[in-house]
Formats: sequence, C-alpha cells, structure tokens
Amino acid sequence: MSQSKEMSEVSSIKDAGLREVGEAASTALLKELHAKYLGKSGLLSLQMRKLGEIRDPDAKREFGRTLNESKAELETALAERMEGVKQGERLAQFQAEAIDVTMPGRPAKLGFEHIIAQTSNKIKRVMGGLGFEYLEGPELEELRYNFSALNYPPDHPAMDDQDTFYVTDEKLLRTQCTALQGRVFESRKPPLRVVTIGKTFRNEAIDRTHNHTFHQVDCFMIDEGVSMAHLKGTLGLFARAMFGSEVKVRFRPDFFPFVEPGVDYAISTPRLFNGKWVELGGAGLIHPNILEAYGIDSERYSGFAFGLGVERIPMMAYGVDDLRHFMENDLRFLSKFQAEYAVN
Ligand code: FA5
Repeated sequence: MSQSKEMSEVSSIKDAGLREVGEAASTALLKELHAKYLGKSGLLSLQMRKLGEIRDPDAKREFGRTLNESKAELETALAERMEGVKQGERLAQFQAEAIDVTMPGRPAKLGFEHIIAQTSNKIKRVMGGLGFEYLEGPELEELRYNFSALNYPPDHPAMDDQDTFYVTDEKLLRTQCTALQGRVFESRKPPLRVVTIGKTFRNEAIDRTHNHTFHQVDCFMIDEGVSMAHLKGTLGLFARAMFGSEVKVRFRPDFFPFVEPGVDYAISTPRLFNGKWVELGGAGLIHPNILEAYGIDSERYSGFAFGLGVERIPMMAYGVDDLRHFMENDLRFLSKFQAEYAVN
C-alpha cells in the first residue's frame, strides 16, 4: 500500500511539474522549474531518498524505474518547452529590434559657413572679378612688416593708434593686413593687384564697434598711372557689389603713414542706421617712400591701397549693432546668416 502511495506521490509531482512546464512562458521560469523539480534538492530528486525505505526488492525496482521515467519525462518536457520558448523570445527580440525601413530618416544637419567666411568669400569673388590675386600673410607678424616697412618712423606716435600685442620685441600679432605689402614687394615687381583677408589684433578697449580680434580686407594695386580715380572707382564698385546699388560712398582726408594722400572711406545706405555714415576703413595712394624702399621707380609707378574692417560689412548689410556677436560663436545668432552670400 505504502509503495503505491509513494508511486502516486511521484506521479502527482510529475504531473504538477508537467503542468507548470506547459504554462511557463519564459526561459528564466523554465530554469527555475528545472531547479524546483530536478535540481539537487528538487522535488523529484528528494523522492530518491525514499528508495532506501522500500524493503521489497521488486517494489524498490519498480519505484526506482517510475522515478527515473518521471524524471526523464519531465526533463524532456522541460527541454522541448525551453526550445519553443527560446524561439518565441528570439522572435520577440527580432521584432522589437526590427528596423522599419519605410520610416523617413532623420535628416543630417548641414553645416553652413560663418558669416565672416561668407563675407570674405564674397569679397574674394568681387575683387577677383576686378583682377586682384588673393594672397595671405602670417597672423604672427614681424614688427618691420607691420610698421617699419610701412613708413612708420621709429617710435612714431602713429604706432600708438594701433595698440599692439607684442610677442617679442620683433614679433607681434599683426594690427593690420597692410603688413602683407612689404612681403609682396620683396619678391614681386609691378604691375601688381593683390587682395588679402585675415585676422587682425589690437589691444584696445572693447565696445560695440571695436574688438580685440577682428578681420580686415586689405588691397593694393600698383601700375603706371594709377590715381585716386582708380581708387574711388574700385571702392565705389566694391560698395555696390557688397551693399547694393543704392549705397553712397564718402572719402574724407585722413592720415596713414603709408599713403599720400590718405582718406577715410565711409558708406551710407538709406536702409540702415537712418542713412548714417559708417566708416569702413582707410585708403590712399601708396607713399612714394615705400615704393622706393623696395626699388620700385615712383616716377614710373604709382599705386593705391585700402584696408577695411570685414565685420563692418555684415553689420552694415544686416543692421547688426554689435560686432562682438561675430566672434562669440552663438549659433542662435550665426544661424540667421545661413548662406546669405551663397550665390552672386
Ligand atoms: C588701418 O588698419 C589701415 N591699415 C587701413 C589702410 C590700408 C589705410 C591701406 C590706407 C591704406 P584703421 O586702423 O583705421 O586702418 O582700421 C581700418 C578699419 O578696420 C577700420 O575702419 C574698422 O573698420 C576696422 N577696425 C579697426 N579697429 C577695429 C576693431 N578694434 N574692431 C573692429 N574693427 C576694427
């Protein structure tokens, strides 16, 4: 009797196990069930202990066989279920990770040129169209190119107009792109038409219209018979190309050691700042002292030069009232000028 009670206990453990395995929906749960029934102290494994209590050898064999069969049956059921559940889990994972190729892609954000780069490129196109070659000089410049070669006598107070960041006694951060002139005159002979654009630096009080770092375009032309008329014509064309046909230009006498006569160059447009005149830079006819210093016959050749603040151009074109914005790299400001000068 006791033997059949034990047998039926085994079979009800097995049935319960089979039912639980049948209902288990995850590999994790199936692993738990394996431990619960077949692990070292699992419910069926524990039944093995009862073998020792059965005296009758036939009954003992019978119980042992039933127990082994039950364990094998549960083992098989677990393995089969495990396979099925694994497949389901894999499928669910694939579905969850599936890429919907019909969904519209996220567009990559296209970069755009900084407004100073756009302005510089337009200047290059305009001056290039007038036959000027684009060249560049170093930002860390030699004192002689920045000042001495430009007809500044030693310790001349005009140097104080451009408060300077000196790196050594002989090297400085260039205060003006006019510094390129001496470098070109050393290696080339007229006729010359050159334009350069670059960063310039001045150790001066910063306000809405002055920064310590800014950009200049500097230009010069040397040929036979070059006069103020060429300078005014070129700067008039330049202004119309940059600001449109309604722009007015003004020249007033000014002093720079490297030109004679010298002028300041201002523009006014009815659209902006109530038509107020805004100075863009300086200009003039290249001083004969400079031409002679480089062995250029000043009786035969003459030249004009001008140098303008690049930031002033988009300020005037778009009504920006503080040039410090241009160097702050704030995308909210810069993105207002996406491809302003892209074509034309
Ligand atoms: C010059 O730098 C001369 N080299 C220009 C020149 C070239 C004259 C060739 C004659 C012949 P000036 O110091 O005035 O000149 O500067 C020229 C322009 O640079 C100014 O009109 C202004 O537009 C710009 N500029 C000067 N200082 C600053 C500054 N701190 N911040 C922004 N722009 C400036």
